This record gives sequence, structure tokens and C-alpha cells, in this order.
Amino acid sequence: MALARPGEEMDTAAWARVFREAAALGVLQVHLSGGEPTARRDLPELVRAASEAGLYTNLITAGVLLDAAKVEALAAAGLDHVQLSVQDAAPASADRIGGLAGGHARKLEAARLVRAAGLPLTLNAVVHRQNLDRLPDLIALALALGAGRLEVAHVQYYGWALANRAALLPTRAQLDAATATVGAARAAHRGRLVIDYVIPDYHARRPKACMGGWGRRVLAVTPAGKALPCHAAESLPGLAFPDVREVPLAEIWHRSEAFNRFRGTAWMPEPCRSCDRRAVDFGGCRCQAFALTGDAAATDPACELSPHHALLDLAVREAAGAEEGFTYREMGRAAPPPR
Ligand code: SF4
Ligand code: FES
Repeated sequence: MALARPGEEMDTAAWARVFREAAALGVLQVHLSGGEPTARRDLPELVRAASEAGLYTNLITAGVLLDAAKVEALAAAGLDHVQLSVQDAAPASADRIGGLAGGHARKLEAARLVRAAGLPLTLNAVVHRQNLDRLPDLIALALALGAGRLEVAHVQYYGWALANRAALLPTRAQLDAATATVGAARAAHRGRLVIDYVIPDYHARRPKACMGGWGRRVLAVTPAGKALPCHAAESLPGLAFPDVREVPLAEIWHRSEAFNRFRGTAWMPEPCRSCDRRAVDFGGCRCQAFALTGDAAATDPACELSPHHALLDLAVREAAGAEEGFTYREMGRAAPPPR
């Protein structure tokens, strides 16, 4: 997937209409994500429009562009919650992983401003082989910043993360240590810090219900106005994604081919079709299935019952000891294949 260029983005009025249509459709929350949403000068107006439509507003941000005036403007516009990503607890490593000198210090300042404005904060720690050993420090950081929630978010391997998979996949030993750390921290900080944590696909036996199931809970809208059943859906071939400036949101949700293609269980091949978990995990992730098998309708290889499951074990074995340099995302360029 390529990032949209600024000239391709929807304007404020179009977004405001989308928020009203979403609320009318029964949507409860809007997650303002990116790219980087704070790069939009009209972000407070967008927050106000979403808030006035009755939506709970969550800003998902890297935080490096926030300052006191912006945070105050967002709070005044009705922002309900901020989710701030961090790349590590160690500043030098965080700046190297994020590819931005001084970025970690700016994130810490953003967290301070968010809390000073009285907004609830979730810390989103993107974890992988190069920072997972510092999970205890990330938990301490979340507590020190006054976050009420910490998401220990294992990298999902499609798009640019798939291109960097060999540099990012954690070992089984790292994962087991992290799982034990989370268990102890949940008990130690109960009532003060909620920790979200799930076993990553490459070490799992069964997949997760990606997005809660295709076309069941989530409707994503790109900056350029495409409606998607998940944020990576544009990586799938042969699907036309409707433009929210041309088609009402309710029609997109209920009747578009893209939202109905993998909805429910009727589309499934074996072994999912006759599996008793088919209405629990919905066959896993379509984008991961396509990225690893070339078939978006295949059983997610994260499932042990998939004929392709050995691909994940192989990737973990090959990643151990691989180089740790990254291929960074570039504007207008699609992700290359895995190294
Ligand atoms: Fe889920 Fe399909 Fe695996 Fe069954 S076979 S657990 S439905 S992915
Ligand atoms: Fe697209 Fe999972 S990310 S279905």
C-alpha cells in the first residue's frame, strides 16, 4: 500500500459528512489514524465534527508533531482519548527503529501534554525482536507517563512490516519471557494499568478474528476516501473499494462487493468450512493469507490446520540471526517483497 499524497485527501466538509453517515449507521467510535493524522491542519475541526455527530473520538498518533497549542485545541474540540505509539523504552534504540533522531523525546513530551490536558492516554508499544527484551521498561514507561492502558502490539506482517520480517520476528524464548512479564505486571498493577497482549500469529496455533471478522465491526476510510473492510485491504487484488464521496456509507456497508466478499462463513474453503471455530475466528486474516499464499480466500497460515502453516515456522527459523537493518516506508512506493 502506498501513502496518499496530501492533494488526494478528502476535505473537512467531506469528512464531516462521513462522520454523520457513520453515526447514522450505528458506528460508535472513530479512530483518527494515519499516516499521521496530526499532519492535518484541520484536525481540531475533524474532531469537532466527529464529536458533534455523537462519535467517541480516539486520536492514534506518533506524537512527534504535537505541541501544547495543538493538544489544547484538540481537547477543546472534544477529543476523548489519545493513543500514542512508542518504538522502545531506550531513547537511542527508539530513535533508530523509528528512523527519527529526537523522536522519542518528542513522544514523551506529547504524552505529558496529553495528560496535562486531562485526556486519557493509551501507550501503544510496537514490539518485535529488537525491543521485546525491554518490555519491563516499556511497562515502567507507561506507568511513569500516566497511561491507563498499554497495548503490547506485536508487529503484524503485511505491507512494509512483511518486507522487514526477517529483522523483526521475535524468537520463541523472547515471546515466552514477554508473556510471563505481562502476567506478572497485570497482577502487580491491577486497577492502575490495563495491559492488552495477544500471542503473535507466527507463534500461535490458531489465528485471531482479524478486525473481528471481515465486514462485521470495522469500516476504515482512507485519506483519499476509499472505504475498506480493514486498513490493509488495498493489498488484496481484484476488489474494488467504493469512494465515500460517491456512495453512501450505508450502501457501502450493506451492499458493496468488497464488504461482502469475505463476510460471514459462506466464502470459506476447507478446512475452515467444516471447522467448529469458523464463526469464532472467521478463518483469520485475509491480508496475511494473501501475502503468504497468494490466495486471499485461503485459510490463514497462522492456523495449524492450514496446509501452509509450515511457512510461518520457516520464517521464524530463518529470521533468527538475520540482519537487523530496516527498509523504511516511502511516500508513493508500494512495499517490496520480504527480504
Ligand atoms: Fe479458524 Fe479455519 Fe483454522 Fe478452523 S481451520 S481454526 S476456522 S482458521
Ligand atoms: Fe486485512 Fe486482516 S489485515 S483482513
